[in-house]
This record gives sequence, structure tokens and C-alpha cells, in this order.
Amino acid sequence: MSGAMRVKIGEDWQEDREALLAALRDFAPLLEGAPFRNRYGLRGVSAFALFWFLRQVRPDMVFEVGVWRGFSTWLIEQAVPKARIHCLDPMVMLQGFMSRWKLGRTYRSGRATYSGDDFSCAPIAELIGPHTRPLAFFDDHQNKLPRLLQCRAAGICDIVFDDNMADAGTHRSLEDDLRDPDRRHLLEREIEIYEVFPALWPVDARIGTLHLVEPGLDFPIEPALRRVYDERQWHSSVTYVRLRAEPLEPSG
Ligand SMILES: C[S@@+](CC[C@H](N)C(=O)[O-])C[C@H]1O[C@@H](n2cnc3c(N)ncnc32)[C@H](O)[C@@H]1O
Repeated sequence: MSGAMRVKIGEDWQEDREALLAALRDFAPLLEGAPFRNRYGLRGVSAFALFWFLRQVRPDMVFEVGVWRGFSTWLIEQAVPKARIHCLDPMVMLQGFMSRWKLGRTYRSGRATYSGDDFSCAPIAELIGPHTRPLAFFDDHQNKLPRLLQCRAAGICDIVFDDNMADAGTHRSLEDDLRDPDRRHLLEREIEIYEVFPALWPVDARIGTLHLVEPGLDFPIEPALRRVYDERQWHSSVTYVRLRAEPLEPSG
């Protein structure tokens, strides 16, 4: 196995414009049935990004790492209703000590399993069992390179990362690691496909010390897309990573 890491970012997505718009028109009406409007976690274009990647990959098992109030669990069920879902979040252990008033409404699925284990020590390979296309979704604000290597060890090749922008502040993203020559070399050996979901409409947002600016793909502002459009500034560089079947050998 050889070949350069295939990167799709920004304007590269123009080639998918028609398919993205068709999928967005399927996605937007689903939000009417959401259990609540998310305030912290996936929203707007970022929620659509996870939906898009799941529909592309069609996993038969999803590990959701970072669950919070459960909006992304609901979203995973909309995108891949037949997939088995394993939800991991330390709050599973701690929720009983949290103020229900502060937490607000939650969505917990009878079809998903819940664990407070960290992904690094949960029995991931055993849980995968006979499933052939497992995918891991990380929205846990932990460093992303260790998560990628934990997926490699568990035999998961399809990964979606939320918050993969550089200088995110809460964690080290793959965008941060790609700026470091040694880490870039490691990532290029591991990754076959690397796709950073684009802004669909212009973004000019400040999150803490970050200033995110992206021109977008000039999508139409149709009434049916309004709910996604209204949250267009919620752009968190949701990124799909497909690991190589085998990592490349280190080069001198
Ligand atoms: C941004 S929230 C997740 C939002 C959720 N995915 C959504 O879209 O609604 C981040 C969550 O990561 C969880 N978290 C923190 N450390 C974690 C870890 N090591 N493993 C899994 N989840 C973790 C937090 O408890 C919190 O619930």
C-alpha cells in the first residue's frame, strides 16, 4: 500500500456541491423532529457534516465518544438507523451528581449502550465483534492523535473528529499536528483520506481567542434550509479520516 494522503478541504468540495445540496435537503427537515435544540455540541453545518460522513461511510457500528445531552446520538440514529451505537462519556457515571436543571433535556436511546469508560480502556475490539464497518466519532475535546492511534489498535479505520480546527484551545487537533513535521510524517503514514467539512455559507465567527473565517460554497438560502443556515457560524471543522489498511513504512 502506498500513495499520498488524499486531502479534501475548502474549494475542493465544489465537486460535491450537488450531492451536498441534495443531502442537506434531506437533512434539514429531520431537525424538526430533534428532541431539543442543541446549545453546546453539534449544531448547524457541523451537525450536517456528521450526517453527511455517516451517510457516505454507512457504518454498521458507531462509537460515540463525547455524548453530553445526547443530540449527536439522535443524529447518528437519523443518519444510520441500523447501526449499533456505543456511547462513551464520563458523565454516564457522573450524571447522578449533576443538576438536572443545569443539564437540561437529554436524549438517551434504548437502542444504544452507555459507558463511562474512556475509549482508551474500553473493550473496543471485543465490542466490534462481527461488525465489519465500525466508525468512531470523537467529540470529547481530547487530543486527537492518541484517539487515532487507539482506533488503529482497535481495528477501526473510519473516524470522524469534531473540533479539528488548529488552536482549538481545549485539545491538540490533527490540524495542529499537521504543522509539526514529525507528527505530519506519522499522520501521512497512517491516513489514506483526510476530509475537512467546509463552510456552506460564509463564516466569520469568534470562539474564545479563535477567529474563524471561511468563504463557504455559496449555498442557496432556501426557506427549508433556514434552520441550518441560521446556525451557519457553528463551524467546527468536522473531519473524516480513513486510515490506511496498513500504515506505510517509515521513510528515512
Ligand atoms: C461537546 S460535549 C459533546 C457534545 C455532543 N457530542 C453533542 O453533539 O451534543 C463534550 C463531551 O465530552 C465529554 N468528555 C470529556 N472527556 C471525555 C472522555 N475522555 N471520553 C469521552 N467523553 C469525554 C464531556 O463529558 C462532554 O459530555
